[in-house]
Amino acid sequence: MLCLAGFMGSGKTTIGTLLARQLAWRFVDLDDRIEEAAGLRIPEIFERLGEPAFRQIEADQLRATLGRVFEFNESIVLALGGGTYAQIGAPEFLRAAGVPVIWLDSPVEVLLARCMTMTGRPLFRDESSFRVLHAQRLPSYQQAEHRVDSSGDPAGVVAEILSRGIVAAGGNEAHLIVEKPQP
Ligand code: S3P
Repeated sequence: MLCLAGFMGSGKTTIGTLLARQLAWRFVDLDDRIEEAAGLRIPEIFERLGEPAFRQIEADQLRATLGRVFEFNESIVLALGGGTYAQIGAPEFLRAAGVPVIWLDSPVEVLLARCMTMTGRPLFRDESSFRVLHAQRLPSYQQAEHRVDSSGDPAGVVAEILSRGIVAAGGNEAHLIVEKPQP
């Protein structure tokens, strides 16, 4: 298993999909798991339930996803949400699980340009709040054991990840004991 962390627009889904294809692993997007669990789209979760409830579902789904990975010995590339790795305890939780985390890092200008044209991100309100949130989260992303520049084309980013030997080094050697996933 491998986790992709990074801010909104860093390419977690695009790169994760390509990377999983190259590895012949399954791709899992935590945002999709959250939407399925809540039965709502992400903007609706924020509107109707609020961000604290969103974070709770996010943490539950992260734990449940890891639980399945370990229970069924699955090989997956997991794209986290933009805020997942910045939540208190998340870096420690993934480290304790032995899951390699790659921070997809791009300059904030690149992230902004990518997010400007996309809808469905409740935490993308305006440029200044986007920059503030990015700056607040940087110290969390910096805790990831691997950092890859994701401002270039996705195929090149995937090639860079594969050339680092992260998969062979961290592959399926994770050793976490997680609580039983919620049904
Ligand atoms: C969020 C990022 C989103 C999604 C939710 C909250 C964040 O994921 O989880 O809107 O806190 O930055 P993406 O980074 O995949 O857009």
